[in-house]
Amino acid sequence: MLSGLLLLFAMPGELYRIPPHEEVARMARFVANQCNWASMATISTHEPVQGQPFSNAFSTSDGPVGSGTGVPYMYLTTMEISVQDLKVNPQASLSMSLAQTDFCKNQGYDPQDPLCAHIIFSGSVLEINGTEATFAKKALFSRHPEMVDWPTDHNWFFAKMNITKVWVLDYFGGVKTVTPEDYFKATPYKRHH
Ligand SMILES: *[C@@H]1O[C@H](CO)[C@@H](O)[C@H](O)[C@H]1NC(C)=O
Ligand SMILES: *[C@@H]1O[C@H](CO)[C@@H](O)[C@H](O)[C@H]1NC(C)=O
Repeated sequence: MLSGLLLLFAMPGELYRIPPHEEVARMARFVANQCNWASMATISTHEPVQGQPFSNAFSTSDGPVGSGTGVPYMYLTTMEISVQDLKVNPQASLSMSLAQTDFCKNQGYDPQDPLCAHIIFSGSVLEINGTEATFAKKALFSRHPEMVDWPTDHNWFFAKMNITKVWVLDYFGGVKTVTPEDYFKATPYKRHH
């Protein structure tokens, strides 16, 4: 219990405890829910780097902090350089790190330190519509209030990362992987002892 105190950190109005590092699926869900953005790598279609990895920042949300679904949603337009890549090849890699929160700073963990937990999603980015898009809109606009004012003539659409594999760096000893099934079953904020 007391050792857990070191791992407490504050988000606006509430305390969330980082899961134990060996509970990898929970850790992945925790990082995905805590982060507001991701670095997304696509296979570039743009000269002079055609065919090369191209990494770029995107706002994400899997739902409200404290109750995410684990699905990273994005609000995209084909006017955007990486989204143009996705139109040719939807395969992408999304990286999120607790370095994006106050956690690593407060603990004194360098972003490359595995204790500064970070995750990489492999998969593809798919346009969504219907009820899932309605959910994505709520999830994104609640955490990214300025999205509501983004220019309407840019043909924004909602998309999700369709996860095929989750890679987790949250402790020493190398990367660990989580299947989408285990990832979506995990409960990031459950109390532990
Ligand atoms: C979503 O859009 C796709 C392609 O435009 C379409 O085939 C599909 O039926 C739509 N799904 C829903 C739930 O509206
Ligand atoms: C979405 O991800 C699942 C694995 O979680 C995979 O089986 C499926 O083929 C993917 N769908 C697309 C369209 O990439």
